[in-house]
Amino acid sequence: ATGPGHTRKAPPEAATPRRRVCQGGDHKASAKQFPVRSNFRGRQGDRLPRFEAGTHLIRRLYRVHRPYILLSLKSAEEEFLVKNEQLDIWEPEAAASARNMYAQALADPHYPRYHAAPPGGWMNDPHPIFFNGEYHVLYQYSYLPGAPYDGPHRWGHAVSRDLAHWRHLPVAITPKDHGVAPDRHIWSGCLVDNDGVATAIYTMDNIDVWVATSRDSALERFEKYPGNPVIKGPPAALAVWRAGGAPEMRDPWVWREADGWYLVVGSGFDGGRGPVIPLYRSQDLVRWEYLHPLYEGDARAGDGTFCECPCFFPLGDKHVLFLSHERQYLVGRYEGHRFTPERRGSLDAGPIYVPHAVADDRGRRIMWGWVHDERSREAFARAGWACMQTLPRTLSLGDDGLLRF
Ligand code: FRU
Repeated sequence: ATGPGHTRKAPPEAATPRRRVCQGGDHKASAKQFPVRSNFRGRQGDRLPRFEAGTHLIRRLYRVHRPYILLSLKSAEEEFLVKNEQLDIWEPEAAASARNMYAQALADPHYPRYHAAPPGGWMNDPHPIFFNGEYHVLYQYSYLPGAPYDGPHRWGHAVSRDLAHWRHLPVAITPKDHGVAPDRHIWSGCLVDNDGVATAIYTMDNIDVWVATSRDSALERFEKYPGNPVIKGPPAALAVWRAGGAPEMRDPWVWREADGWYLVVGSGFDGGRGPVIPLYRSQDLVRWEYLHPLYEGDARAGDGTFCECPCFFPLGDKHVLFLSHERQYLVGRYEGHRFTPERRGSLDAGPIYVPHAVADDRGRRIMWGWVHDERSREAFARAGWACMQTLPRTLSLGDDGLLRF
């Protein structure tokens, strides 16, 4: 996520090539490809096949109940906006503009219906968690009047029970004082379920790791841990990438093992020989001890020079590592708390960045990734929204050791 909203300089290969997502004709083209068949309307005398009869009934019910459906949708949106404005009182102008952007977005025929997309404004990296029976996708979110792209980042929040219909919840974590250190950029990270307490572990100011916890079952509000930062800067033992003199390390990813919590974070070696993924351990999610790199990447092997948003998890009898580089993933062995890749594959032919995969209560590993949006800034401003998440994908390993979706 580089651009005017960001103060850092991206390392050369951190950014993936951006592709256009929403082309003007897409929507119409797909409508043309799948025309509504005339017997859906139930021509007199026709015996409809079972599936079509079902569709016919649903359509009739929808026609009759449409006003009520629209009414209830409207009140959910209203509630979301009102709550949001109350939370974002430090930036009232932006909150008011979010209201307009949401209305604009809903009126846009290209606004996605099944993808998690921002309620107006700009979305980037996903921070998913399955919690209390629901799929939450928190995400990098920003909005400013007339400029969805700009503004300090915070964690927006969408939730779904069925992975297709998304409800917007208020912004979950906001920076305290716009532009004032130390609480100014709520950047990427992850969420874990610490025995019923959802805990967000995220990047502050491109370098430190902060923690916030939620005590409510819907994860509507997070409280920042008063002892933040929990990790201050990179480990002394590592010479990490520096941009304009300042070291860069960001985007923690956390999981639990039998002997405690483990955390990796994205970085790169100074000089550009490859990405480095430092590994830490903790018993309580706030006191972290640096161990060693989980993985030292190699630019010559195609790993890039810097890793943003690492994501690491077991799948079958292997482990998978996402480096957010060129849509690649690595499958390999995790032994002695070090990762050795064995296979390398591609997640997608299209735009996907920061893939993050979490487990649900059915043992599925479900992945979302940020779909970057390449419309012009003027087009964002007109549409009122920008970017979305991929549709969720369930991951498994094929016989060839590569991912299946
Ligand atoms: C990846 C990224 C992260 C950073 C976030 C800021 O897209 O650059 O490294 O934490 O976006 O929004």
